[in-house]
Amino acid sequence: MNVAPFKLERYFAKYEFTTCYLFSCSDCDGFPMSYVLEQATAEELQWWEQLRLGYTESEGSSLLREAICPLYESIRPQQLVVSSPGEANFILMNSLLQPGDHLVCMRPAYQSLYQVARDVGAQLSFWEPEPDSWRFDPDRLESLLRPNTRLIIINFPHNPTGAFPSPEEHARIIELAARRGIYLFSDEMYRLLTHPPQAEIPAVCDRYERGISLWGMAKTFGLAGLRIGWTATHDTEVLANILRYKDYLSICNSAPSEVLATIALRHAQRFIQPNLHKILTNLRLFEDFVAARPGVFEFIPPRAGSVGFVKLRLAQPAQQFSEALLHETGIMAVPSEMFEYGQQHLRVGFGRESFPRVLEVLGQYLQG
Ligand SMILES: Cc1ncc(COP(=O)(O)O)c(C=O)c1O
Repeated sequence: MNVAPFKLERYFAKYEFTTCYLFSCSDCDGFPMSYVLEQATAEELQWWEQLRLGYTESEGSSLLREAICPLYESIRPQQLVVSSPGEANFILMNSLLQPGDHLVCMRPAYQSLYQVARDVGAQLSFWEPEPDSWRFDPDRLESLLRPNTRLIIINFPHNPTGAFPSPEEHARIIELAARRGIYLFSDEMYRLLTHPPQAEIPAVCDRYERGISLWGMAKTFGLAGLRIGWTATHDTEVLANILRYKDYLSICNSAPSEVLATIALRHAQRFIQPNLHKILTNLRLFEDFVAARPGVFEFIPPRAGSVGFVKLRLAQPAQQFSEALLHETGIMAVPSEMFEYGQQHLRVGFGRESFPRVLEVLGQYLQG
C-alpha cells in the first residue's frame, strides 16, 4: 500500500518548531509534567516513582484502562485498546476496508480520517456542511449511503469547523448506520470541550454495537506529548483486529506515558476546565477581532472543540495569504488547502496562551 503525504502534518513539521507565532494549533498548550504530578495522590505518585521501564500490556495497562472507563456509560476495560490515535485510525481503516468498499467521511476533515481509506482503495464520498452554518445535515448523509457502504466516519467536535450536532441529529446519524449495520467510526478527540450552552452528546460506542469511538490525551486534556489515545467499542472483532496489527507496530505503549495519562484522567477536570476556560476566552477575543474587520473575515464560531474555521474575504487564495503572513510576521496559519476544502479559509486554534499576542501581530499586519 502506497500512502499519500499527510499535508497538514508535513506543514506543521516544516514550521511548528521554527516559527515565532502559531495561529492554527488544534491542541491546547501542553501542561507541564510538574502540573500532572501535583494532581497525584500519594498512591499515584508511587506509581510514578516506582515505575519500571519494561514492556506494558499491549492493550494498555489495566490501571489506565480502568481510569478511562468513567468517561463512558457502558465501556469496561476489556472494551478498550490504548494506542496512539493515529495508529488506531490507520489500523481501523486497514482492517475494516477492502478495495471497492464504500465509505462516507466528513469534509473538511483531518486527513488521516479519509486518506488511509482512499489509499486502501475504498470508494469515498464526502459529507460536507452547509457553508453558512457549518451544520452537517443528516439527510444529506443519508443520500450518500449506498448498498455497499461499510463505514461512516464522523468527528464531533469537528476539526476544523467546530461543528457540533444537536443530540437529536447525533442520534439520527447513529440510527442511519444502525439500520443498515454500517460501522460508525467516531473521532471524539475533542470530546467534552463543549461550549455552553450546547448540550453534550454521547460517545458513539455507548449507543451502537458497531460504533467505534476514538479519543486521547492531546486535545481535551492538553497532553499531546504523551502520545496516548484509545479505541472504545463493544465490537470484539474490531478490538481483536487492532491488537493483531498493533503487534507489528508499537507492540505496547510507553510506560511513563501510561502512568501520567492515568494520573491525569483520574483528575480529569483539572485539565479540562483550564483548557475550556482558555478556549472560550480566546474565542471571545477573536469574535471581537473579526467583528472589527468585516471586510477581511467572515466567521461562524465553533460550538465545541478548540478550533474554528474563518473565511477570508480576500481575492488571494488562503495558502498564498498564509505564506505571505508567515514570511512577513512569523505567524503560521493553516489554510483550507490543507483540508482539500477550497481556498478561502484558515483554521484558528483557541487553545494557546499566546493567542492574544498572535492577534496583536496579525492586526498590525492587516493594518499595514
Ligand atoms: C480529528 C483528529 N483526529 C485525530 C488526531 C490525532 O491526534 P494525536 O495528535 O493525539 O495523534 C487529530 C490531531 O490533530 C485530530 O484533529
